Amino acid sequence: MNVAVFGLGYVGAVTSACLAQRGHHLMGVDVNPLKCDMIASGRSPIIETGLDDLLLQGVQAGRIHATTSVSEAVAFADLSIVSVGTPSLPNGGLDLSYVYRVCEQIGQALRDKAGPHVLVLRSTALPGTTDACGEILRRAAGRDVHVAFNPEFLREGSSIRDFDQPAYTIIGTEDRHAEAALRELYADVPAPLHVVPTRVAEMVKYTANAFHAVKITFANEIGLLARQMGVDGRDVMSLIVQDTKLNVSPAYLRPGFAYGGSCLPKDVSALLHLARREELSVPLLASLPRSNHVQIERVADAVLATGARRVTVLGLAFKAGTDDLRESPAVELVERLIGRGCDVRILDRAVQSATLLGANREYIERRLPHVSCLLTDDPESLIHDAQAIVVTQNQKEFSRLLEGVRPDVPVFDVAGIAVPAHVRVQGVAW
Ligand SMILES: NC(=O)c1ccc[n+]([C@@H]2O[C@H](COP(=O)([O-])OP(=O)(O)OC[C@H]3O[C@@H](n4cnc5c(N)ncnc54)[C@H](O)[C@@H]3O)[C@@H](O)[C@H]2O)c1
Repeated sequence: MNVAVFGLGYVGAVTSACLAQRGHHLMGVDVNPLKCDMIASGRSPIIETGLDDLLLQGVQAGRIHATTSVSEAVAFADLSIVSVGTPSLPNGGLDLSYVYRVCEQIGQALRDKAGPHVLVLRSTALPGTTDACGEILRRAAGRDVHVAFNPEFLREGSSIRDFDQPAYTIIGTEDRHAEAALRELYADVPAPLHVVPTRVAEMVKYTANAFHAVKITFANEIGLLARQMGVDGRDVMSLIVQDTKLNVSPAYLRPGFAYGGSCLPKDVSALLHLARREELSVPLLASLPRSNHVQIERVADAVLATGARRVTVLGLAFKAGTDDLRESPAVELVERLIGRGCDVRILDRAVQSATLLGANREYIERRLPHVSCLLTDDPESLIHDAQAIVVTQNQKEFSRLLEGVRPDVPVFDVAGIAVPAHVRVQGVAW
């Protein structure tokens, strides 16, 4: 393919060299003529292992050129990749002026060129930016332009390897022509390719980077606490990552409800107590209880905002298959809703049978008398009478019961349950 790459910094230079190696013809574009001269003569404008060799090979094979002229590049290319900088503004926001300016310039240049053109945004930008680029381009070009977002996951220092062996390629677009062009561009890359809505692709990039930041900070805070107790945090973390069932896995990484139960709140609390006692600052760990509490408040606020007063809560224990009510976020949710004047009814068969058998009765009667009397074993009326429903556990019975919900009743699914098609389902953190 004939490809123009706008912005010859870390991303643009590596992208150009790696695509040329795969047989594509590249035209690099930058406002900085020095960078263009370097690329055109097969020299890397950045320090990056292997990049000089790859660029030189591309130039010698006649597959890499560079220019400061946008119209020359657009005339040459079927597909334009935008990899200009998106730096931070003084207020922390994103400066998209370079991205929008280059889109405007490409659009203007397209006025002098017939035929379809694909624009791929590779700069990191928040959801909605690619759509805005599409509008700018179409307005400037006076015709349709096919747009897509294609996040870049390379790390400086190992960027050629990262480009050649990515975990996956993500294409964010609703445009079939753009999708086909990007499939062709990456045909030789040995990795799964996911085509997703544009905004999902844009958000994935931020999520990945936020997740990396959380992991680094988490490891440092754990290391600090471990050291205080005479433990090497590196040994701890190397065991932590070997559990790919719960630790480094999809477990617990689904937006939904708050954590709870007899372990997580208690154990986080013990670590925070230790940190306070030892005067160690662990802001990430310290933020967990507050953030978790806010999630419960959000669910309650979302229910109250519907104006519903008769509310059914499906699931009271902190998860399905247990009668353990200690630190259950559903209990706190119910208490909040009652406190705000709601008439709440609850279905939780495990808690109910534990109460009947006496196993958990003492705890419930002592700690939660106001909640236990809301448990009912008449699920049909519970569904029939509800003005709003909250599902806090993933149970087949709850999916079945939702078959009987009127389509106008809002159902808040914080458990990730299978919901019948007619149900007006909403999440809170999704
Ligand atoms: N550096 C990384 O490791 C990395 C990894 C993934 C994603 N990203 C993202 O990729 C984007 C680019 O990052 P970078 O590190 O390559 O930036 P960079 O600052 O190294 O390069 C940006 C280049 O764009 C050029 N430019 C600016 N306006 C231009 C215009 N109108 N026309 C042509 N060229 C223009 C600049 O002269 C510069 O050479 C950013 O959004 C960044 O967040 C970077």
